[in-house]
Amino acid sequence: FVKKDLVGRKILVTAGPTREPIDPVRYISNYSSGKMGYALAKAARDRGAEVILISGPTSIDPPIGVMFERVSTAEQMRDKVLQYFDEVDAVIMSAAVADYRPMNYSNVKIKKDDSEMTIRLSKNPDILKELGDKKGRQVLIGFAAETDNIVMNASKKIKEKNLDMIVINDVTQPGAGFEVDTNIVKIITKDGDIKDFPLMNKYDLSHAILDLAANLMVR
Ligand code: PMT
Repeated sequence: FVKKDLVGRKILVTAGPTREPIDPVRYISNYSSGKMGYALAKAARDRGAEVILISGPTSIDPPIGVMFERVSTAEQMRDKVLQYFDEVDAVIMSAAVADYRPMNYSNVKIKKDDSEMTIRLSKNPDILKELGDKKGRQVLIGFAAETDNIVMNASKKIKEKNLDMIVINDVTQPGAGFEVDTNIVKIITKDGDIKDFPLMNKYDLSHAILDLAANLMVR
C-alpha cells in the first residue's frame, strides 16, 4: 500500500550524470547510474504526483507514467530544469552534474602525439544555486556526494544554494552512493535538523525523502 499524498503536486527530479564533450569520441563524466533519481521519480509517481524526470545519459529504462526528458550536458540540463521550474512544487536534484566542462570542443578527434596533453576546463552553471536564487513556493532538495567533512560541507551547500534540505551520501561507504541499488544517507534540513538513515534500497529511501518533502510543500 502506497499513500497518495502527492496527488495534485508536480515534482521535478533530475537523475544521472552529465557528459561534457571533449571531441566527437570523448567526454568527461562521473559514475552516476541514474538509479537514485529514477527511484525518486517512481516513488513520487506512486504517491500520485505528476513527475518530470530530467535525466543525463543512463542505461536504465525511463519509468512508465512520468514525463521524461533526456539531456546530455550540464548546460542542457540547466535549460530543461529552468523550462519547467515555474510550474513545479518541488525540485529534487539527484543528478551528478559535472562542475566543469572542457573549455574548447574539438570538432575532430584529437590525435595523440608524444607530448603531454592538457585539457582546460571552464566552470559549468550551478543549477541548484540558480534555482535557489529564483525560488518562490518550490521546495528545493539537493543531494551531496561527499567524501570528507560531510556534515560541514553539506550545511554550507544548504545556505549557499538556499535549499530546504540536502541528502548527503558518503560515497566512500560500501552500499552507498554511485551505481549500487542501496544508499546510506543523512538528511539535513534548513533548520539544522539532522536525520540518519541506515542502509536502504533507493526506492524505500525515496519514500523517506518524499515524506519530509511533502511536509514542506505549502498547502
Ligand atoms: O545515480 P546513482 O548511481 O544512483 O548515484 C546516486 C548519486 C550518488 C549520484 C546521488 O545520490 C547524488 O549524490 N547526487 C548528487 C551528486 C553531486 O553532484 O553532488 P555535489 O555535491 O557535487 O552537488 C551538490 C548538489 O548540487 C547536487 O544536488 C547537484 O545535483 C547540484 N549541482 C551540482 C553541480 C552543478 N553544476 N549544478 C548543480 O545543480
